[in-house]
Amino acid sequence: AARTRDDLRCPIVVIMGHVDTGKTKLLDKIRKTNVQEGEAGGITQQIGATYFEKSTLVTQTARLNETEKFDLTLPGMLVIDTPGHESFTNLRSRGSSLCDVAILVVDLMHGLEQQTIESLHMLRNRGTPFVVALNKVDRCYSWKTCKDAPIREALKEQGDGTLQEFRSRASDAKLQLQEQGVNSNIYWEMGDDDWENSDFVPLVPTSAITGEGVQDILLLLCQIAQRKLWKQLMWCANLQATVLEVKAIDGLGMTVDVLVVNGYLREGDRAVFCTLDGPIVTEIRGLLTPPPSREMRIKSEYIHHKEVKGALGVKVIGNGLEKVMAGTSVLVVGPDDEVEDIKAEVMSD
Ligand code: GTP
Ligand code: MG
Ligand code: NA
Repeated sequence: AARTRDDLRCPIVVIMGHVDTGKTKLLDKIRKTNVQEGEAGGITQQIGATYFEKSTLVTQTARLNETEKFDLTLPGMLVIDTPGHESFTNLRSRGSSLCDVAILVVDLMHGLEQQTIESLHMLRNRGTPFVVALNKVDRCYSWKTCKDAPIREALKEQGDGTLQEFRSRASDAKLQLQEQGVNSNIYWEMGDDDWENSDFVPLVPTSAITGEGVQDILLLLCQIAQRKLWKQLMWCANLQATVLEVKAIDGLGMTVDVLVVNGYLREGDRAVFCTLDGPIVTEIRGLLTPPPSREMRIKSEYIHHKEVKGALGVKVIGNGLEKVMAGTSVLVVGPDDEVEDIKAEVMSD
């Protein structure tokens, strides 16, 4: 079948930024979960993945979309959470290499910090488009909570002092981005030329706790995906997949969390993985996902699938997975393929 603009896969969105800027909380807000408070020391130490259905995107942007009137056609969105702690540069690098678009989260009270800058340069080097969330806007002095409201509605409710603080902190962040060679502006103040310029970065004030601006960032990501990234998001049946994590799960043995970017993965497929001892071929015995809007790294009531379609994060069950290496590609042996060719291919990158 022809690949068309009407048949897009889910965009993969990675959340990056300095430790404790609110990356996991932002996801908790959208998921209506409390993953962050269950983390040891409140620190993320693994790459996570959460799949949002189209209906969730539509519901969570409904109020803003009363005025924006954007025709949301994406089948959903896959969001990858990454750690901000300095010791996890490799996981940030892996996350940034897998995504179509990124949210760089900045703590509005702190401005740009070390790993913000590191993340920013990773994204720039790969040419990945990103938006900046100016998070913790609720910490501006005497902020009036407007729970889950579009950010412009929330700003209208604030007093002059609060607005002044917001303005001044936002313009500090803009200057700091400028120092890193990044032109940016509050997203609703961007001109047509700025939107045309693929290097220009939209700023979205958010609160992961009270929810202001969360509608805005979701809708903006959908708009960027549909308007600017549709070519790379065209659905295709050829498997493109990468190993996120390898871990033992009670009752399941060693499992491999795989990010299926595009194409299909099916139970019974002969999959080829890279291990420390070279390539292995193993039959896929099970494909599990958490329910939609649930974090893959949290143990839950997994859903069993006969077949999954990218983009999706999936837990693969099979034999001999102990030494599979995170960050490597996954291939399947097709009916016309030579096993040795596929083995060579999987080890080549
Ligand atoms: P790492 O994954 O460890 O890098 O941190 P993170 O970026 O995921 O931040 P996390 O979600 O763990 O939040 C860090 C702290 O900031 C927690 O105590 C959150 O409750 C708090 N926090 C996050 N977002 C907001 C926000 O928008 N407003 C306020 N007031 N606090 C926030
Ligand atoms: Mg986190
Ligand atoms: Na944290």
